[in-house]
Amino acid sequence: MKSLSQKVDKIEESQTIAMTTLAKKLRAEGKNVISLSAGEPDFPTPENIKQAAIKAIQDNFTKYTQNEGIPELREAVAEKFRSDNGIDVKASNILVSNGGKHSLFNALQAILNPGDEVIVPAPYWVSFPEMVKLADGTPVIMKTKEENGFTFDASDVEPLLTPRTKAIIINTPSNPSGAVIGEESLRSVARLAREKDFYIISDEIYEKIIYDGNKHFSIGSIDEVRDRVITSSGVSKAYSMTGWRIGFIAANDEIIKRAAKIQSQMTSNASSISQAAALEALRGPQTDIEKMRAAFEKRRDVMLMKLSQIDGITVKKPGGAFYFFPSVKGLIGRTYNGKSLTGSSDVAHFILSEAQVALVPGGAFGSDENIRLSYAYSEKELTEAADRIAAAVAGLK
Ligand SMILES: Cc1ncc(COP(=O)(O)O)c(C=O)c1O
Repeated sequence: MKSLSQKVDKIEESQTIAMTTLAKKLRAEGKNVISLSAGEPDFPTPENIKQAAIKAIQDNFTKYTQNEGIPELREAVAEKFRSDNGIDVKASNILVSNGGKHSLFNALQAILNPGDEVIVPAPYWVSFPEMVKLADGTPVIMKTKEENGFTFDASDVEPLLTPRTKAIIINTPSNPSGAVIGEESLRSVARLAREKDFYIISDEIYEKIIYDGNKHFSIGSIDEVRDRVITSSGVSKAYSMTGWRIGFIAANDEIIKRAAKIQSQMTSNASSISQAAALEALRGPQTDIEKMRAAFEKRRDVMLMKLSQIDGITVKKPGGAFYFFPSVKGLIGRTYNGKSLTGSSDVAHFILSEAQVALVPGGAFGSDENIRLSYAYSEKELTEAADRIAAAVAGLK
């Protein structure tokens, strides 16, 4: 038979999904696995949002909608970007898609030509390099330093620029590191983007999950790069709506037109019912967001204390999102059952088999000396997981 798509051979499967599936399988086999691998809030979707969806079904709001999203939702998203993020956009600058992942995919497809380079700061969300490749681009990985809290500024970006540089992907707060890139650093990258002419894709899906009294800053609010920033966000994380699949981008007219054209041939509109729910999320009471954010901050503090007591693991305090990305450099080279741990994948598999805690090897995020664990779980589960990891690690030679 003729060979199948080579494009697919070039991309990796999502390790986050693979680890979550493995944990579910072990649980189904009766193992008492605590999974800290998934990237989703554990809270139910707020009641007012669920009721809006039920009403949409009862009102027969169940047909195709405008490809770009219903006008009321595009307006609500534009209003959100103007008031929360200081980004000067109209409803026509908004494209509503099937989740943040789809939004980013559309954005990359809309701007890249074969061979265009996209700078991806590492550690990165697993999908960024693969999405760039699917859009025929070349990911250029920019390592950031743990001692700098995995942040960066223009001086880190500049040495990687070539005539083929088309864009940089910024993700703040970051999955997997929880790093929050400060306003001054973002301003320096904005100046460089203008000077050297490249686009900025700013993934701000964790914008509402930020700690220590800090306020999220959007690079798209900087006037001099207004036209070259694509801001991507959505309702998945802030409103605990991962299953509803609603994401959105704000960008200039031409980019939105192109991204919408791609969407029109690929999926058409996002679910009508989910759009009604997202409208309620944005326009309804915002009290649940703060409750969830505060709960994440408390869990972060509990888990930070527990993890930092484990010999061989060093951990930075994340400024946002709901992940730790501890270094396990101190465990590499230690042995169990006569086998030496050689990298993050060995460490993750060791922790899964000995502590029955599922987490994701850092190699999947571009850093083989780390592991990623999510703290979007109850304090009870987190404490138990940390205790189990500590006990397993104590058994290493
Ligand atoms: C950094 C980042 N961007 C985008 C997304 C995608 O969000 P969604 O579930 O809305 O597709 C995720 C989800 O894990 C993420 O971590």
